[in-house]
Amino acid sequence: MDHFLYRDGVLHAEDVPVAEIAAAVGTPFYVYSSATLLRHFGLFEEALDGLEHTICFAMKSLSNQAILRLLAQRGAGMDVVSEGEYRRAKAAGVPGERIVFSGVGKTRAEMRTALEGGIRQFNVESEPELRALSEVASAMGAVAPITIRVNPDVDAKTHAKIATGKSENKFGIPIAKAREVYAEAAALPGIEVVGIDVHIGSQLTQLEPFEAAYRKVADLTEALRSDGHDIRRLDLGGGLGIPYTRSNEAPPLPLDYGALIKRTVGHLGCEVEIEPGRLISGNAGLMVSRVIYIKEGEGRNFLILDGAMNDLIRPAMYEAHHDIVPVIEPETGVEQVPFDIVGPVCETGDTFAKGWHMPPVKEGDLVAFRSAGAYGAVMASEYNSRPLIPEVLVQDDQFAVIRPRPTFDEMIARDTIPEWL
Ligand code: LLP
Repeated sequence: MDHFLYRDGVLHAEDVPVAEIAAAVGTPFYVYSSATLLRHFGLFEEALDGLEHTICFAMKSLSNQAILRLLAQRGAGMDVVSEGEYRRAKAAGVPGERIVFSGVGKTRAEMRTALEGGIRQFNVESEPELRALSEVASAMGAVAPITIRVNPDVDAKTHAKIATGKSENKFGIPIAKAREVYAEAAALPGIEVVGIDVHIGSQLTQLEPFEAAYRKVADLTEALRSDGHDIRRLDLGGGLGIPYTRSNEAPPLPLDYGALIKRTVGHLGCEVEIEPGRLISGNAGLMVSRVIYIKEGEGRNFLILDGAMNDLIRPAMYEAHHDIVPVIEPETGVEQVPFDIVGPVCETGDTFAKGWHMPPVKEGDLVAFRSAGAYGAVMASEYNSRPLIPEVLVQDDQFAVIRPRPTFDEMIARDTIPEWL
């Protein structure tokens, strides 16, 4: 459920008409609903009720500081994957003790920054990283709390580009090798083993892969404890999928996911951490765009928008689908017509949907891409010298620009031309 509904014939973000935001900030833009973000965060809180737990929002999905502040005020921690994300989380007011550092390629500089600023734990992904962290922490006279990310060799049954839990993927260490690597970790200076980490992929629409992975983690917990390690924290990753169309998808509910966690690892007495991104942010955001032209092609009509693949790359990159709806509510019973919906960027990949049936729209009309809150704004670029589009946050009947649109001059002024030219 989200808070983007038609009211009085116009699409609203909570109590604000989307057209009013468009008039104020221009198009295209992203708009997020606070109520939806908090609702989704709350679903995980409810799902894990009864277990000692921390929900670390995977801020790679949506990293505007206003969003981080909103979630952190409700008790969220953050899952970060770079120094930039770490600094952003801190700037938004998230305490270091609630930040976990994931990622396969943490640099020594990143490790140092996190140790200085405070960190809940590093999720270590390889032996060379473990040794580097030991060196960095020891040199600082610090102790780095760690989990080791294990790769359980489970098929997440999701898009190949976002599956991470198979042995051929670059993530984690093979679970069969875990006891050996934990033994090394325990012997290294500057390292404190606190638990185990696993994350098998994103946009999972079935619970079975989670179940398979978490059972392996439960067995490993017992094995590591018998080896003398104090395994007290399990980071179970993120990845729960969301419905991208209203009609035919029904991914598992957080409540069922929570029951699965309790069933598979609940008996171990560990503190549980999860790192959801998309389920919290995905359906909490729209990208709103305006129709520039309607162009008649051979046997098809192109809806040419002012939003493009640089603003929302998911369709071009993952063949992802986003429902596209008119901002003015169509009259009931109006006949839907097929459009190929494209942006102005000079490549065919700049296509959002082909033969997408929607109520007739005309030039100048506003359309909204649903489910664009996760991996939308954060993956945008300035390709074709198109400035990054603004982000707006709505709460009840108020809205605020949380990242303004840069002017062309600001964008252009970032280049410098060497003296010799
Ligand atoms: N934890 C780790 C270690 C991750 O790598 C990810 C996502 C998450 C948590 C959060 O997963 P989520 O709950 O959001 O599924 N750009 C792609 C998705 C990439 C996901 C990368 N890792 C997309 O647009 O579909």
